[in-house]
Amino acid sequence: MIMKFYQLSRADRLTWLKQAGYLTDESEQRLLAQTPLAEAVLSAMVENSLSEFGLPMGVADHFLIDGHEYFVPMVTEEPSVIAAASNGAKRVAASGGFQTVEVSHLLKAQVIINGVTNQVSLTKRLTDAQSAIETVVIEAHPSLQKRGGGLRQIEINHFADGYSELALWIDPVAAFGANMANTIAEAVGTYIQQALLKKDEQVLAAVLSNSGEKMTVTVTCQVDFTQLATAEFSGQQVALKIAALNHYAALDIDRAATENKGILNGIFAVGLATGNDLRAISAAVTDYLCGANRPVLSTWQLDQHAEVLRGRLTIPLPVGRVGGAINSLPNAQVSLELLQHPSVETLMSIIASVGLANNLAALRALVTNGIQAGHMALQTANLAIQAGATGEEIGWVQQQLNQHQPANLALAQQLLQQFRNRG
Ligand code: MEV
Repeated sequence: MIMKFYQLSRADRLTWLKQAGYLTDESEQRLLAQTPLAEAVLSAMVENSLSEFGLPMGVADHFLIDGHEYFVPMVTEEPSVIAAASNGAKRVAASGGFQTVEVSHLLKAQVIINGVTNQVSLTKRLTDAQSAIETVVIEAHPSLQKRGGGLRQIEINHFADGYSELALWIDPVAAFGANMANTIAEAVGTYIQQALLKKDEQVLAAVLSNSGEKMTVTVTCQVDFTQLATAEFSGQQVALKIAALNHYAALDIDRAATENKGILNGIFAVGLATGNDLRAISAAVTDYLCGANRPVLSTWQLDQHAEVLRGRLTIPLPVGRVGGAINSLPNAQVSLELLQHPSVETLMSIIASVGLANNLAALRALVTNGIQAGHMALQTANLAIQAGATGEEIGWVQQQLNQHQPANLALAQQLLQQFRNRG
């Protein structure tokens, strides 16, 4: 039975799991309920589909990026992420907004060759065949050329132990381009194996690289000291502390990991809302950090003369605005509508700006009131739900919990009982 699981309908799969003791009646009914995604989309997108996994989708406001205002869609399970993005963005907008310094959107396809004993000879054969390789690329994906994309650069790199790489830099236009790069890499791999390689040389694999090396964006912002002040600290004091904490992250990878996570809070939430591949972003960021001379993605530096704190973020963002799940997920389309159908480069600037905004909000909170005050106020909704609150009970219990810090589950349960006894 389990062998043919993929052939069952969604409902039969759920019944099977219930009968086999993996699901309760209640969970089966929950997963069976009408999903916003059409049944056909669910089963087309993944193997053995059961249901849909709901996550909150919200919008961050106050984003001013390259002179344009945006409401940025975000999907996340962490209560503070959208609030933090809006908070950071508001301070930046009041100081002139985010600016894009540099953006590039090229994807690398790799043809990996082994058994290479004469690197000079291989380089010559591949270089001499450049125009033939260009033709193979066009024939592998004719529509890419028609849309203004295609092969931009060819590189040959040699490694130890008889390995070489033919790198094909592709402009995938509006898509991330994973499938295009794989198709092109395989076609070129087949061609060079048949036409160019010697007896002992062989194409070992042909696939895109997730390095994100040339799919990067740099955004900057400045924040007026006045935008950073709290009741306790002057704006200049806060700016100094933010720069100091960011400097510390450059010296300590354990802190860098946490600061980077704060940046990725925003990056992943917009990535998810726009139907992009978060694993591709993770892989590219990992690769980028391995090669960087600082372990933290952002920099925050003081400009005492101008009385501003200057922030800068360079990050690889392998994303698209068409293709893959983006076209299949209706809410990803709504997200792009909210963003006024940006070009892929603009989408990269927006995502990076959200990362920098989340970073600013986290650092400011950390060096002033601490992170827990804001986090716990937002976590109380989760506590209320965990305690069993539903409907209007959630808001009431949350409000009471916020007045009774530190909040905990037992208190949430007690308050819920109190609310129910009243009514
Ligand atoms: C929490 O999700 C993210 C932070 O820990 C980031 C940071 O410490 O910089 C607040």
